[in-house]
Amino acid sequence: MAKCCLLLLLFLLGFLLPEARATSCHPDDLQALRGFAANLSRGGVLLRTAWSGATCCGWDGVGCDGATGRVTALRLPGRGLVGPIPGASLASLVKMEVLDLSHNQLVGTVPSWISRLDHLCYLDLSNNTLVGEAHAHNK
Ligand SMILES: *[C@@H]1O[C@H](CO)[C@@H](O)[C@H](O)[C@H]1NC(C)=O
Ligand SMILES: *[C@@H]1O[C@H](CO)[C@@H](O)[C@H](O)[C@H]1NC(C)=O
Repeated sequence: MAKCCLLLLLFLLGFLLPEARATSCHPDDLQALRGFAANLSRGGVLLRTAWSGATCCGWDGVGCDGATGRVTALRLPGRGLVGPIPGASLASLVKMEVLDLSHNQLVGTVPSWISRLDHLCYLDLSNNTLVGEAHAHNK
């Protein structure tokens, strides 16, 4: 009987632990990513499908700091994202270190908030139709 309970416990832990380990996403960052996907002219639909639920740290293309749940990386190369980079939605990703939006069809100007991301050390906006310059700190 005891052995049976132990097996059951191990079985349950196997299901529960991965969930418990998943870093919860910082609410500001969750809102920022949702705003970004919501306001893309095209391509946002794909993102919204891939980005369901509230555990943004597990989303495709999103990397987080495990301790704080802050988003540190957004890698979306070649995702068919079309249109202007939406407003300032990503500006609140204040811990972002890596931003890769290369190989999409983004147009317009490089948003000024990019240069205010203090932790950004890798920025790739190549192969879009953006004008203007982005000055990443620490680059
Ligand atoms: C984006 O869309 C949201 C609604 O989903 C809206 O509240 C927000 O003002 C829009 N603009 C930006 C830059 O996020
Ligand atoms: C530019 O991006 C498009 C996708 O938007 C891709 O098909 C094309 O191969 C890319 N061109 C280069 C030179 O990487």
